[in-house]
Amino acid sequence: LVIKNKVVIVTGAANGLGLVIAKSLHASGAIVCILDKDETAIQKLSIDFDAYCVDLTDEAAVWEVIDKITFKHGEIHILVNNAGLIHNEAIINPFKENMRHSYDNFRRILRVNLDTVFITSSLVIEKMVKRRTQGVIVNITSISSKGNSGQTAYSAAKAAVLSMTKTWSKELGPYGIRSIAVSPGFMETESTHVSLNKNIVEHLISMTPLRKLGDKNEIARTVIFAIENSYLNGSEICVDGGLVI
Ligand SMILES: NC(=O)c1ccc[n+]([C@@H]2O[C@H](COP(=O)([O-])OP(=O)(O)OC[C@H]3O[C@@H](n4cnc5c(N)ncnc54)[C@H](O)[C@@H]3O)[C@@H](O)[C@H]2O)c1
Repeated sequence: LVIKNKVVIVTGAANGLGLVIAKSLHASGAIVCILDKDETAIQKLSIDFDAYCVDLTDEAAVWEVIDKITFKHGEIHILVNNAGLIHNEAIINPFKENMRHSYDNFRRILRVNLDTVFITSSLVIEKMVKRRTQGVIVNITSISSKGNSGQTAYSAAKAAVLSMTKTWSKELGPYGIRSIAVSPGFMETESTHVSLNKNIVEHLISMTPLRKLGDKNEIARTVIFAIENSYLNGSEICVDGGLVI
């Protein structure tokens, strides 16, 4: 798909990887709509994006925004599901009185990382099919979906997003809609340093054959490649410096 003049939604793009993806798509000539719940960060955005403050776990609120975007721009060609939340919690922690992984946390992390992708995608796909749009869905998953110690809920959510990507590639291919997953490894982002302490980051770098964290721009570059490559469908592209092979 040629990106220039296409209408693109990037979720969770007020910060981090999503913002870099949104900027790259904007630079490629796309009309970029941002959906994020972080109002303060939205107000600080320098580029004139079409930004909407919305909690993506709220189906009715997302429905309203998707409707507004379709009314304003005519159709939606590309959806990048990037919004997510890293969460570290082991299934059992012998150092805590209550050893078990909290079920509330499990549900909450699934809602943020999985339900949001289902909600936004089902609404956008309906618009695409009704308007016969030849579109692309790019889901930002994680190498954590292969199993990452200390991330039961997050890994499960990302693995489920990967499965939905593959399912949609089969269901939606005949409509001319492609679905691709981009799985980052450990990237140089604020969220990496907030969620992992210095020693763990250093350990992960030493485990990575390229011996460094990934640059956010490499994820944006991969998203653009996925959108432009017209025969790519149902694939997972891992961008992880060789950490998981
Ligand atoms: N940073 C990494 O190293 C890394 C590695 C693998 C995968 N990822 C994935 O990449 C994506 C982006 O990660 P990041 O590091 O840039 O994170 P981030 O925390 O910097 O940004 C996430 C954005 O999503 C938004 N968001 C979260 N929940 C939301 C909701 N319910 N409704 C609306 N907006 C919501 C936040 O406000 C924020 O702007 C995530 O899906 C993450 O799981 C990141």
